[in-house]
Amino acid sequence: MNALKELQTCFQPVLGKYTDNVDDMLNLIRPSKEAKFGDFQANFAMPLGKSTGKPPREIAEEIVAAVDLSGLCEHVEIAGPGFINLTLKEQWLKSNLAHALADDRLGVEPVASPRNYIVDYSSPNVAKAMHVGHIRSTVIGDALTRILNFMGHQAKSDNHIGDWGTQFGMIIYGYRNFRVEADFDKDPIGELSRLYRFVRLLIDFHKSTGKLPELQTQLKQLQAELADQKQQQSIAEEKSAIKKIKKEISQTNKRIAECQQQIAKATGIVEQVNADSLVETADAHKDIATAVLLETAKLHEGNAENRELWEKFLPICKQDMQTIYDRLDVSFDMELGESYYHQQLGDVVNDLEAKGFARISDGAMCVFLEDFETPMIVRKQDGAFLYSTTDLATIKYRMENFAADACLYVVDHRQHEHFEKLFAVASMWGYDQAELKHVSFGTVMGKDGKPFQTRSGDTVGLAGLLDEAERRALVIAKEVNETLSHPVDESQLKENALVVGIGSLKYADLSQNRSSDYTFDYDKMLALKGNTATYLQYGYARVQGIWRKVDTDIDSVRANPVEFAFATGIERSLAVQLLRFEEALSDVLIEYKPNLLCNYLFDLCQIFFRFFDQCNVKNAETESLKFSRLQFCDLTARTLKTGLGLLNIGVLDKM
Ligand code: ARG
Repeated sequence: MNALKELQTCFQPVLGKYTDNVDDMLNLIRPSKEAKFGDFQANFAMPLGKSTGKPPREIAEEIVAAVDLSGLCEHVEIAGPGFINLTLKEQWLKSNLAHALADDRLGVEPVASPRNYIVDYSSPNVAKAMHVGHIRSTVIGDALTRILNFMGHQAKSDNHIGDWGTQFGMIIYGYRNFRVEADFDKDPIGELSRLYRFVRLLIDFHKSTGKLPELQTQLKQLQAELADQKQQQSIAEEKSAIKKIKKEISQTNKRIAECQQQIAKATGIVEQVNADSLVETADAHKDIATAVLLETAKLHEGNAENRELWEKFLPICKQDMQTIYDRLDVSFDMELGESYYHQQLGDVVNDLEAKGFARISDGAMCVFLEDFETPMIVRKQDGAFLYSTTDLATIKYRMENFAADACLYVVDHRQHEHFEKLFAVASMWGYDQAELKHVSFGTVMGKDGKPFQTRSGDTVGLAGLLDEAERRALVIAKEVNETLSHPVDESQLKENALVVGIGSLKYADLSQNRSSDYTFDYDKMLALKGNTATYLQYGYARVQGIWRKVDTDIDSVRANPVEFAFATGIERSLAVQLLRFEEALSDVLIEYKPNLLCNYLFDLCQIFFRFFDQCNVKNAETESLKFSRLQFCDLTARTLKTGLGLLNIGVLDKM
C-alpha cells in the first residue's frame, strides 16, 4: 500500500476544478519534514493561488471541504499561507500494518501497468581487466533490475560487453609481437592484460611525443596572451571593461591549467617509456596505432587468423570478468555484446540511407541532427562501423525481439552526448515509442578529490578493491567478535566479512545520488554508524538477537497476530515509516535512483533503533503490547532484508 498514492487519488478529482495541470499539483503532496506538520503535507494551494488569483488559504479551505479523506486521515489542518497538513488515521495504519505483516511482499502492490524493460549495464570492454569505473554501472544496474522486477515490471538485464572493438586489435597486435609464451600458458588473462597495457603505452608514447611540441607552443602562446591581458587590466578604467578583462584572464588561466595538465600527462608517458628502456622497442613500432586499427579491421572483415585469435582470447577475457560477477553475485539474462550485432551493421546503415536520414559527408556516412553541431557518424571513411552503429542495431534488436517499452543504459556520464545523439537518431528512425534513458552516473573519486587512481596513475582494478573491502571487513569483524560473549567461529567470521565487505562496497555506491561523483573511502563505507550497509545489517541482526532473548519464537508470533498498538509516539512513527516502503520503491523508479531506497532504509533503521531504545519489548506492560512490539520487530527486519535484497546486499543473523 502507498499512502501517498491514496492521498493523490483522493485529491485528484477535486483539483481538476482549479487547474489542467493536476499531475504537477499532485506531486506537491509530500511526506512532512517534521512530525508537527502531520504525516504528509499538500502544498498546492500556493501555486493554485497564483494561477487563479484567489488567496491560497481560501483555496486550501475549499479543497479541504470538498475532498473525501474519511477512510485515510483523521486530521486535516490548514497552516500558514495554505499548507495542508495531513495526519493518517490510526485505524488505517493498523490495518495496513496487519496486511503487510501477513504478506510476503510486505504490502507492496505490483504496478498497475507493467512495462518491458531492458537494462543495459556493466558492459565492460573485455580485453582489459575490470576497474573501479565498472562497479557503479554494475551495482546500480543490478539494483534497478531487481527493483523493477519486484514492482511487477518485466526487466531483462543485458550485459552489452565491448568484445569487438579496437582493444582486440591491440591484443592481437600485442600477442603477435610481444607475447611471452610461458606467461600466457601460465596466466593467460594476466598476459593479455599486460599486452593490452603495453600496446596502449606504446601508442600513447607516439601520440605524446608527437603532441608535446605543439602543446609547448600552445602554452607559450597562452602565457603571452595572459601577460597581454594583465597589461590591459592595469590600464583599464571603466567598470565594465575591468569586469570583461577579469573574465578573460580567468578563462586564459583555465586554459593554461588544462594545457599544463596535458603536458604533464604526455611527459609522464614519455618518461615511463624512457625509464623502462622501451625507446628502442617503441621506435621499432612507430606505426603501432595504425597497425592496431588494421588488425581490428581485418578481424571485422572476417580474416581467418584474426578471427581465430579472437575466439581464443574471448573466453579467457570472459572468464576473468565472470570471477568478478561471481563475487558480486551478479548475473545477466543476456550477454549480447558488440560482436553479436556486427553482421547487422551494414543493413542498419543502408536502411538509414534509404530512408533519407543518412548521407555521405567527407567520405563518412553521417546522420545530421537538428539540435547537434556535429553529426552522428555511422560508417567511417575507411568503411569501419562505430560504437554508435552497434548501438542503433541493438535498439532495433531489442524493440523487435523484446517489444521493449523502455531501455535503460547505466553508463558513465561522460557518454552523455553519445546517448543524446543515439536517442535522437533512434527516434527519427522510428523507435520513438519506447523510453530510452541514459541512467548516467558520476566518477569515483579518491579521498584526495581526484578520480580514484593507483599511485602510478592507473585506474584501480576491481578485483583488488573487492579483496581490500573483504580484508578490512574481516579485521573489523574479528575486533567485534572478541568483545562478544558468544563469539562466532572462524569460518562464520569469514563468511560474515564477505557479506559485510561486499555489501558495504555496493551500498556506498548505491546510497549516493548517482549523478554526483562519489568518494571512495573504506573507513566510511564500513562504519557501523551512519548511512552504511553495516548499520542496516546491524539493525537486522539486532532484531534477530531479540528472538534469542524473548521466550516467544517468531513462528508463534506470526501464527497469532495481534492488533498493532501505538503505546508511544515512536511506535506510530515506526508504523508510518514501515508503510512507506512502496512509496520509496516507486520513487526509485521515477528517475531510476536507488539511493532513494537507501535513504528510506536508513531512516527506517534509525527510527527502529529509537523505538528499540524507548520501548521495552521483552518486558512490555502487557502480553499483547509485547506481541505488538515483536510484530514491529519482525516487520522492520523483513523490510530491511527485502530492501537490502533489492540492492543485492545480504544480511546476517548475528554480527
Ligand atoms: N562498453 C562501453 C564502455 O565500456 C559501455 C557500453 C554501454 N552500453 C551501450 N549500449 N552503449 O564504455
